[in-house]
Amino acid sequence: MDRAKSKHTGLFQGRTYDDFLFRPRRGRVGSRREVRLTSLFTSGIPLELPIVSANMDSVTESRMARAMALEGGIGVVHRAMPVEAQAREVERVKRSHGWVVEEPIVIPRGATLREARELARRHGVTGILVEETPGSGVLAGLLSKRDLPHGAGHDMEPVERFMTPFDRLVTRPLGVTLEEAERALYARRVEKLPLVDEARRIGGLITKSDIMLARERPESTKDAKGRLRVAAAVGARGDFLERAEALHAAGADALVVDIAHGHSDTMEQAVRALRKRLGEVELVCGNVGTGEGAIFLRELGAAAVKVGIGPGRGCRTRLETAAGVPQLQAVHEAWEAVGSTIPIIADGGVRHDKDVFLALACGASSVMLGSALSGTDEAPGTVILDPATGEKRKIYRGMTSPQAVFEALYDDSDPEHVEAALETPAEGQEVQVPYHGAVRDALQRIRGHLKSAVSYGGDESLASIRAKVLGDPESFLIPLSTASRRESFER
Ligand code: XMP
Repeated sequence: MDRAKSKHTGLFQGRTYDDFLFRPRRGRVGSRREVRLTSLFTSGIPLELPIVSANMDSVTESRMARAMALEGGIGVVHRAMPVEAQAREVERVKRSHGWVVEEPIVIPRGATLREARELARRHGVTGILVEETPGSGVLAGLLSKRDLPHGAGHDMEPVERFMTPFDRLVTRPLGVTLEEAERALYARRVEKLPLVDEARRIGGLITKSDIMLARERPESTKDAKGRLRVAAAVGARGDFLERAEALHAAGADALVVDIAHGHSDTMEQAVRALRKRLGEVELVCGNVGTGEGAIFLRELGAAAVKVGIGPGRGCRTRLETAAGVPQLQAVHEAWEAVGSTIPIIADGGVRHDKDVFLALACGASSVMLGSALSGTDEAPGTVILDPATGEKRKIYRGMTSPQAVFEALYDDSDPEHVEAALETPAEGQEVQVPYHGAVRDALQRIRGHLKSAVSYGGDESLASIRAKVLGDPESFLIPLSTASRRESFER
């Protein structure tokens, strides 16, 4: 819809999350557990929990991305690291679960235990298939965590001394069905089932933990092969094409072209170049803060539009440049412009769980969180204990904060990057956030509050209440006075 024809501009003008309450309606569900939250990250990637972890170096690497996908959300691995390191983070997520690990990690029987330990650590796996000779792919045995002796005393001994040899392994042929694999794993009480052809050549690996997990967590975000989904960030300059290629090859389900001003010629050139190099990959593009920006990205062929100029907790853009759009206004304006033709990701500014609901009800299909997830165990960084108060905290920092820029440059040998980065004054800052424990608990809390919000609104699903709000926001949203805001949020 054209901006000039926008019906609800007045309601959202200059407004953001703390400017509204949501009018309760007659409840229709017996239990909040029945409420469905299914939504979209991109049109090809549905989410059972519409939460995305931000591509920031204090938020998302493989550990966070894995946990997000397990809970039904998705994580975007940040790009402030060398290309190979980021590709490895993506691979770790893709390898962590799946019906069949198609290219399992393999080590020759003559390799040392130290090499095996290093390989397992690098790929984040608990078992390694052992091959007869380097590169032969002929199964000789299996080395699992349980086979490894304690300490470093045996480090230089060959793997074959500790592995379970082929004749004691349970294996199955390549085309085995899931049911048959499951039966074999349970009947023979083994954890891992290598798949081999008649010549004993390795064709895959099925693990019991993956099968159990798939049964226990049907809501997790998985691809057609049962592997967890993960997205990864790229920029628009420097090595972005090589980075994108490596991430795509590592199995990233979507690439997030993330630059501060996504409504720009730089974005257009980057998307063209990425398409030329990679063909039809899912490209999520951002950030924009206006309806015009959202249309621009849709016309470039983006798979989703990321909306948010300056609302982030680690962000100083609005303070330093005056550029920005209040976040709820930006989300709704983007939705008015592109409707349901392309999913919108509301990125930044969420301080309370209610904000997630407001963003989704007013046009977003998913919500990206940075600071709200950065205090959890799965976010990179260590827990700091404040000696004065005894409080536990973690560091959260904007990606253009002096600290993040300095560390990224430390890994970068390209003098052009160093010069360009040093020329740009910081638009981000570092803050400390309270330590929250496991991200699973934080996501369960958000899920619970979202379901509750939907049921207060008198509906059974997020999709249904969203359609009603978008059709008539005035009858759902109550703009707040200073006094009513105080009554609502000051405790
Ligand atoms: P929250 O509020 O969830 O926001 O912590 C996360 C989002 O903040 C953005 N971000 C930045 N914005 N300068 C900025 O202007 C920065 O240094 C910066 N670092 C992160 C980003 O969109 C993220 O998802």
